[in-house]
Amino acid sequence: DAEYYQEPYRNQVHFSPEFGWMNDPNGLVYYHGLYHMFYQYYPYGLLWGPMHWGHVISTDLTHWIPQKIALYPDAQGNIFSGSIIIDKKNDSGFGKDTMIAFYTNDRKGIQDQRMAVSHDEGQTWKKIHEPIMRNPGIKDWRDPNVFWYEKDKKWIMVLAAQHKAMFYSSKNLKQWTLMSTFGSTDQSKGVWECPSLMRLPVENSNQKKWVLQISRTDGSPAGGTGVEYFVGDFNGQHFIQSRKLKRRDWVNYGADYYAAIPWNNLEGPRGERVTIAWMSNWKYAERIPTTPWRNSMTLPVSLTLVKMGDSFRLKQTPIYHLKPQDGHIRFHQKTIQPSTNVLKGHKFKVGEIKAEFDLSKSNAKEFGFRLREGVGQYTKIGYQVTTHQLLVDRSHSSDFHFNSDITGVHAIHMNPTNHKIQLHIFLDRSSIEVFGNDGIRVITDQIFPRAKSDRISLYSSGGHTVITSFVLQPFTSIWGS
Ligand code: FRU
Repeated sequence: DAEYYQEPYRNQVHFSPEFGWMNDPNGLVYYHGLYHMFYQYYPYGLLWGPMHWGHVISTDLTHWIPQKIALYPDAQGNIFSGSIIIDKKNDSGFGKDTMIAFYTNDRKGIQDQRMAVSHDEGQTWKKIHEPIMRNPGIKDWRDPNVFWYEKDKKWIMVLAAQHKAMFYSSKNLKQWTLMSTFGSTDQSKGVWECPSLMRLPVENSNQKKWVLQISRTDGSPAGGTGVEYFVGDFNGQHFIQSRKLKRRDWVNYGADYYAAIPWNNLEGPRGERVTIAWMSNWKYAERIPTTPWRNSMTLPVSLTLVKMGDSFRLKQTPIYHLKPQDGHIRFHQKTIQPSTNVLKGHKFKVGEIKAEFDLSKSNAKEFGFRLREGVGQYTKIGYQVTTHQLLVDRSHSSDFHFNSDITGVHAIHMNPTNHKIQLHIFLDRSSIEVFGNDGIRVITDQIFPRAKSDRISLYSSGGHTVITSFVLQPFTSIWGS
């Protein structure tokens, strides 16, 4: 209801629950034309508490309609993260087309894997109390991600266990056999959570590669929690990381991207997959200055791979169906001189910017935008030409004190393509998402600026910058009628 979504920091084009605490997306599944999103939810407060699964549905991945809470905790334990599949052929014996949720039951830190079933497309749920897998003596053993593996006609489950991913298979969805484990050599920081394995198309080829995506509780580039990925092959039993890819890479280089998982039962025409992430960081998620809800989701993205030299890089294309609002600005081929602002006087709070810069005609050291500028605040989205760094600087963005372990500047190397740098930016009331060069690098950050810091500037420093095209498009809220 639009009335309830007007709070100063309520994101207008990103999902957040009407009230209460939210963390990870869970049970993402596409079925009968509806995108279902479940999520870790505590409806009675603004801190993490006994976990429920909240539920929303959408026809476009942008506008979300609240549903009844799907799963409640009980004396057996709390309902931690997991996934949902559609049992089209009745492999489980629960009936054809049953929606089956796999989740971790947590009882005072003891974790086991369980299932719940729905015969009415997710409206009502019945928990199967007997665990499908008892805890083998591992402390952090959770977040089952289940999918159908067509080649061997079997179901696969990936579980996170401290510093590894464990792969299980099943024919009947009830009995699971451990096939293999995959671990990282770097166990220095944090444990693994929310794993997922998906096959993605490599752009401009017929090749497909498998991507293992995992969330780590610490040690991400911006600090705190973040999502790492490995590219390789999967033979139905083992995930084998491609040799030349021993180097690590992160899905997002901002501070606010976690617990990303893909939608099941949904594959684009080229085999691309869609994911969404929790847009927060455990380092401060319980303290962000919002009420009566806490935490939002990112925009969903469509995933493919691109080959770069002898390695593969994840490419993310944001998915959004937003209505334009007045205030659109567009121009082409303009030279931006230092200490001028061609966007002077414009106010901008919610919308997108698409801009392309031509480095072959520029001699600036750095260029970009300052958003939510004014009353001593700004958030900078820039590109440093000499170091080839894409950056978001939120060290002057807010009155809120982000955790001091997390740096104010979040930067990542990004080479120009044909001397061009493209920035696709989504600005929302308390967040910013930057897709660099067609989503080859992404930075997502929360910001909590003052209401009066509402200006925008386009800057070029140390020389001039040629901008080949620029579009700024304000959006209306997704919470309207
Ligand atoms: C990740 C996580 C999961 C767990 C859930 C509990 O953010 O810690 O590993 O299942 O949150 O809410």
